[in-house]
Amino acid sequence: MMTRRIKALDRETIREIERNALAELEAAEDAQALEAVRVRYMGRKGIFRDAASLLGKADPAERPALGKALNAARNEVEESLKGKSFAAPKNAEKRRAFDFTLPGRPAPRGRLHPITRTIEAVKDVFGRLGFEIAYGPEVELDHYNFEALNIPADHPARDAFDTFYLRPGVCLRSQTSTVQIRTMERRRPPVRILAPGKVYRPDTVDATHSFLFHQIEGLVVDEGVTMADLKYVLHQFARGLLGHDVGIRFRPSFFPFTEPSVEVDVTCFKCNGKGCPLCKRSGWIEILGAGMVDPNVFGHVGYDAEQYTGFAFGMGVERIAMLSQGIDDIRLFMDNDLRFLEQF
Ligand code: DAH
Repeated sequence: MMTRRIKALDRETIREIERNALAELEAAEDAQALEAVRVRYMGRKGIFRDAASLLGKADPAERPALGKALNAARNEVEESLKGKSFAAPKNAEKRRAFDFTLPGRPAPRGRLHPITRTIEAVKDVFGRLGFEIAYGPEVELDHYNFEALNIPADHPARDAFDTFYLRPGVCLRSQTSTVQIRTMERRRPPVRILAPGKVYRPDTVDATHSFLFHQIEGLVVDEGVTMADLKYVLHQFARGLLGHDVGIRFRPSFFPFTEPSVEVDVTCFKCNGKGCPLCKRSGWIEILGAGMVDPNVFGHVGYDAEQYTGFAFGMGVERIAMLSQGIDDIRLFMDNDLRFLEQF
């Protein structure tokens, strides 16, 4: 410990002060000892103050250099003080009070998004019917979104499937029907695929519309595929998803890529077909569009329409999730609000 009172300031004395301070600092074993060292050196009546007051008595020629050296030494000690600390006694108390026998806090468990769950449920049913999963790009060529699906440029049918364009000829797909074409281009029949994915449309967002939503497309092509097969497969699907007693109904419709085309209803899952507000008293709820693949579509992928026939269908995932779960606003799927998501 530095006990000798300083009488005159020179370089050796400054070095000694610094050496001693650092050594005492090093030796301090608890917060109290550390504080004592701080007060002794840095305090208002501390050694560095003493030393500074002697500067005035030093040789004027030496003074600036000595002042600098003293400052440097003080800074050095100050830094070392900052670098060393002991937990305050209060914290130490707290640390000792920690009860290691308490059970751990449960980590919140994650779960799948309702859209993902719906897609998984549909995949599950079609998986059992022997369908394989196929994917296609979301950034798509005009050719796949329209042309090859029998929707020529300037044809009014384009309106129903309008989309966002990145540049002429390149768009965001507005339907998963694109995957029909991409799959058939790559291989020969038999084809039996299910294609889930995101689609985009320039719709104004409201409770039932969104610029982004999900569809699931199906396609079966082989020799001798008929509309009876379509009806059987869709009935099996409806029963697998909604329960054994569910019925289905075909209504004539139009899609450019199927001929004939149908809209498919299932018995209302809320009232069981009796008629209620959800099904607008009809007892039926529309769940998808379908039809027999138009021979023009086969023409675009080089399939012989004399040899092969097929059926296709497409459904909106949000729509199915909303109807079956009683969700009344499509925006809830994208808000990321846990109060909503945790209900599934
Ligand atoms: N792509 C249609 C749509 O977005 C849905 C659809 C209807 C798909 C009939 C099909 C189909 O494969 O055969 O509205």
